Amino acid sequence: MAEDVYKADAEFVSRAHVQGMDCYRALYRRAEEHPEEFWGELAEKELFWFDKWSHVFEWNPPFAKWFVDGKTNVSYNCLDRHLATPRKNKVAILWEGEPGDQRMISYQELHRLVCRFASVLMDRGLKAGDRAIIYMPMIPELPVAMLACARLGIIHSVVFGGFSAEALKTRIQDLEAQVVITADGGWRRGREIPLKKAVDEALAECPTVKDVIVYRRTGTPVEMKEGRDLWWHELDQNATEVCPAVPLDSEHPLYVLYTSGTTGKPKGIVHSTAGYLLQTLMTMKWVFDLREEDTYWCTADIGWVTGHSYIVYGPLAAGATTIMYEGAPDYPAPDRFWRIVEKYRVNIFYTSPTAIRSFIRQGDQWPNGHDLSSLRLLGSVGEPINPAAWEWYYKVIGKERCPIVDTWWQTETGAILISAMPGAVPQKPGSATLPLPGIVPDVVDMSGKPVKPGQEGFLIIRRPWPSMLRTLWGDPRRYEDQYWRRIPGVYLAGDAARRDEDGYFWILGRVDDVMNVSGHRLSTMELESALVRHPSVAEAAVVAKPHEVTGQAVVAFVTLKSGRWDHNSLAQDLRQWVAHEIGGFAKPEQIRFTESLPKTRSGKIMRRLLREIVTTQTVTGDVTTLEDLTVVTRLAAQHDEG
Ligand code: PRX
Repeated sequence: MAEDVYKADAEFVSRAHVQGMDCYRALYRRAEEHPEEFWGELAEKELFWFDKWSHVFEWNPPFAKWFVDGKTNVSYNCLDRHLATPRKNKVAILWEGEPGDQRMISYQELHRLVCRFASVLMDRGLKAGDRAIIYMPMIPELPVAMLACARLGIIHSVVFGGFSAEALKTRIQDLEAQVVITADGGWRRGREIPLKKAVDEALAECPTVKDVIVYRRTGTPVEMKEGRDLWWHELDQNATEVCPAVPLDSEHPLYVLYTSGTTGKPKGIVHSTAGYLLQTLMTMKWVFDLREEDTYWCTADIGWVTGHSYIVYGPLAAGATTIMYEGAPDYPAPDRFWRIVEKYRVNIFYTSPTAIRSFIRQGDQWPNGHDLSSLRLLGSVGEPINPAAWEWYYKVIGKERCPIVDTWWQTETGAILISAMPGAVPQKPGSATLPLPGIVPDVVDMSGKPVKPGQEGFLIIRRPWPSMLRTLWGDPRRYEDQYWRRIPGVYLAGDAARRDEDGYFWILGRVDDVMNVSGHRLSTMELESALVRHPSVAEAAVVAKPHEVTGQAVVAFVTLKSGRWDHNSLAQDLRQWVAHEIGGFAKPEQIRFTESLPKTRSGKIMRRLLREIVTTQTVTGDVTTLEDLTVVTRLAAQHDEG
């Protein structure tokens, strides 16, 4: 099949960090042949160290250590070291609130805010190794809190503001956090998200939490519990601005981010200090081709890994100006994103296929009403991007001038692993293209044997990389079982993929019981266990069906306990129930009541059949393609048996 291939123009290439395929190949080869020298040189050149490491790498499968015995600090690398350079007064965070308020925070000012808040945390007795839950809206104090924790070695876990009190509670409990950092609320589509209220509800069963620090964002009165709840602005009155970054071991956990796995219990992905920092920083250059003068915007929420790596840590380590926007893309009108691009002259724009498909649906008049000529590079992440959406993005947003980097990675991988380097690797719409230096992926069958070009199989990574997860919080056994055991000795990503004759990777979707709705990971089991906790439900089976905008949508098949039920109102109740148990973003699109569920002899629900039922309905528009979904269904069955 002939494919369209797109290349950056000569002007783009001439200024790119990596220029042309030969340059990419040379870099890739060097990393493959001499990984320790390759990463060691970069770590030395690109990062600040209190103490240099003794050796680059230690691999005790499946546990890796990078830059062993080195001492560094992520907050220092993101802030302090820029202060002796012309970046001192450069805008670090360019923030816009949903109501239109705006803040521009320089590196020097961000450093000051972070030191003040770190001194507050220190005063509260918190120290390296303690855990903080951060449950905040998209305001600058969110990265301030993250960087303040990182400064002291307090392990943070950001919980997306869309998660319910119930979901927040399980994360606080699993992490045994000592402190929760939150706000009264945040703005979304003109409505307030009452964060503090959810914290109060969650904390009824979280005995480890001693302090709750509350930032005032919306000004709505909230209840403050005596002896537990403290206002950020009151604590700030006694803060000091001298709060040195603590030298931390390279392997000190920087953060834990919970993500959905194949059981009802979310997995706490543990990321390290030095390896994570180095790879997020390098991908800012390799993939986003960052220049000093760029205004860079990743539209993700910091509650997900994309926001951690590509709004906060990667961009700040690279000394970039990173935009942060608080609210919804279509508020007050569908051109909010394009207004921001025009207003701040954004050069690099990174978003999700779901967002792109919803822009397509809203109509070209919205982007066409704005001057988007500042854009130089576009990015996509989180789900497979269908070629039609890719072409639209290229033409209507990029005006056929901007390369598109389709970046494949996961919460677990910490940084982008497969993506075009835009000045080097030609792009094919729908393909994440080629692996970055140091990454050795392959497509294999369940026995670990590489499949032929063009055939579908399981995506694996053969070698450890610096920003890979180190373990699952409190559960090293599950870490080993999930990622390293099914196909021994290699990292199993959980995605189906194929590789074409040119070695390009085409990611097809998840093969495990994880769904991808609007680029958000949802677990089948988590949804099913939420549903069966409802008093009316006997059994539930959840599957994904293709969706024109969100890529996939959740369909729940439910059998009821005996009784008389009004199906219409019960379906509403159950959707609400899921919002209460997990969060509004997880609500099933459809609830189908049924007398029974298809099962194997041993009583296992045959989700594969249900998936086929929901996918064979007609699909409108050019979705990821039905064909891909049947491939995934077939591979998922092998994966289950494997
Ligand atoms: O299925 C892949 C899909 O998103 C999954 C990872 O989800 P999460 O950990 O939430 O991280 C999302 C942001 C990095 C992957 O297993 N995915 C991510 N990027 C792509 C993708 N699928 C296809 N193409 C991509 N570029």
